[in-house]
Amino acid sequence: MSNLYTPKQIRQVFSSDAAQLAQIHHACLPTSWSEQEFCELLTNQNNFCYALETNHQIVGFILCNQILDECEILTLAVLASHRRQNIAKQLIEKTYQHAKAQKVKNIFLEVAENNYAAQNLYKTSGFIQIGLRKNYYIIDNQPIAALIMRYDV
Ligand SMILES: CC(C)(COP(=O)(O)OP(=O)(O)OC[C@H]1O[C@@H](n2cnc3c(N)ncnc32)[C@H](O)[C@@H]1OP(=O)(O)O)[C@@H](O)C(=O)NCCC(=O)NCCS
Repeated sequence: MSNLYTPKQIRQVFSSDAAQLAQIHHACLPTSWSEQEFCELLTNQNNFCYALETNHQIVGFILCNQILDECEILTLAVLASHRRQNIAKQLIEKTYQHAKAQKVKNIFLEVAENNYAAQNLYKTSGFIQIGLRKNYYIIDNQPIAALIMRYDV
């Protein structure tokens, strides 16, 4: 567990951070995205990404795609050692600020139906469920449905 009083800073992420993001994503999620994939995602003009750093180390990040007035959260992860310290909530709040400034109307996301931590986070951040996609993920050879959620900015 990190010291709660360690200075934390949310900052924009650049392609030079791709290796750190790939490591965190691999540690936190069942599907790994390579450094190269993150590099491409981070250089895509339609994407934006924020990370929370402590002691110059990224401990959590959110990556989003924006097309006109709609936005999608592509991924969000916080290292296990830094969870339940409101880091994801702060990253979502930063995304809301960014979306508002860009005149985005709706933010969408998909979350696995067995990912209760993330569902709880999104619900307490104002997202509502608007649909369900069956067999959307294959995790450990098991088909898992995805909840489709929306936040109105
Ligand atoms: C989901 C995840 C991003 C949450 O990150 P976090 O920084 O620990 O979340 P926060 O501390 O900001 O939590 C904010 C709120 O979300 C909810 N929440 C977060 N983790 C939870 C958990 N394990 N169980 C239940 N509710 C949880 C709570 O309401 C929490 O508020 P509280 O701590 O005051 O009760 C993190 O657990 C993670 O990286 N998981 C693996 C990757 C993942 O599932 N990403 C989402 C893909 S859609």
